[in-house]
Amino acid sequence: MRIAFASCVFTELYPDHPVWGWIAARQPDRVVLLGDSTYFDIVATPHPRDMDDWAFAQHVHQRYAGLIAQPQFAALVGAMPPGTVDAIWDDHDFLWDNSTGGDRDMRVVHGGKIRLATAFLEAFRAALRQQLAPGSFPLAPGDPAFWNMNQPPLTAAALQLAPDLMLHLSDGRTNRTRTFLVPESKRTIFGDAQKAAFAQAITNAPQAVHLWASGSTIAGYQHYTKDLAWLMGLAAQQRILVLSGDIHRNALDAFTNGPNLFPLHEATSSGAALKDAVVAGVVRQNFGIVDIGPQQVDISLFKRNRLEHSRTIFRQPWLP
Ligand SMILES: [Fe+2]
Repeated sequence: MRIAFASCVFTELYPDHPVWGWIAARQPDRVVLLGDSTYFDIVATPHPRDMDDWAFAQHVHQRYAGLIAQPQFAALVGAMPPGTVDAIWDDHDFLWDNSTGGDRDMRVVHGGKIRLATAFLEAFRAALRQQLAPGSFPLAPGDPAFWNMNQPPLTAAALQLAPDLMLHLSDGRTNRTRTFLVPESKRTIFGDAQKAAFAQAITNAPQAVHLWASGSTIAGYQHYTKDLAWLMGLAAQQRILVLSGDIHRNALDAFTNGPNLFPLHEATSSGAALKDAVVAGVVRQNFGIVDIGPQQVDISLFKRNRLEHSRTIFRQPWLP
């Protein structure tokens, strides 16, 4: 099975997205968007923090509609079988830079926007499942799909892609606490309920390869020591490969768990269509491909359609 992954796309400033055509040419079985599919807070006046709920809904609708109408993106999703394109979020398509939803004051002040952003990502996911067919994404920001006052938290699914392959679509924003003035013992990225559900899905498939889709890189987990220890503990016994975004470049990494334990592997591809520092620096056109075969997992990270990094992980020892 071949899975393409990419993250960090800002269509308003960078309307040309050659990455989607390069991905389509490699004929993946699935595509995963690893967050920052749009940037609510860049070139936005006023800042989303200062928008009321209706202004926020109009703004976010416009940002998603821009991506959905992007021809290269629409062509890729249109060519993928229904239900094979997934998306998670990171901070910029949750609320804004470094935004977190897990603190009480954020829920009190910005709860309406968190509810709306959740509804918008669920609607975007539904549209992706329908190959972005006309009408698959509600045409107006006032559509009832976006205004469920009892909107459940974002779905964080564990998908079985094959008997021995799972894809875990984590939600790293709804429950994330901030780090500033929050003691380590109270910090979390995912929250207890999400961690319990994923831990069960992972331990129930002890022989499978587990792809952990994450907006943040593992380096971004470092200030959340409990959640990092939780993921490392699972990775010690189960074969986990993190697919991550966030940093606007490609990278491969591995984190050791000690002798006779599996390491945690990570493949990062970020910066599909934007600049280095979003609006400044060098234009990024990055994507990744992971091929999961019976004996090995081959990771290839591409920069402007040229192979930049690659690594093979052998399934049995879970080592390169
Ligand atoms: Fe980003």
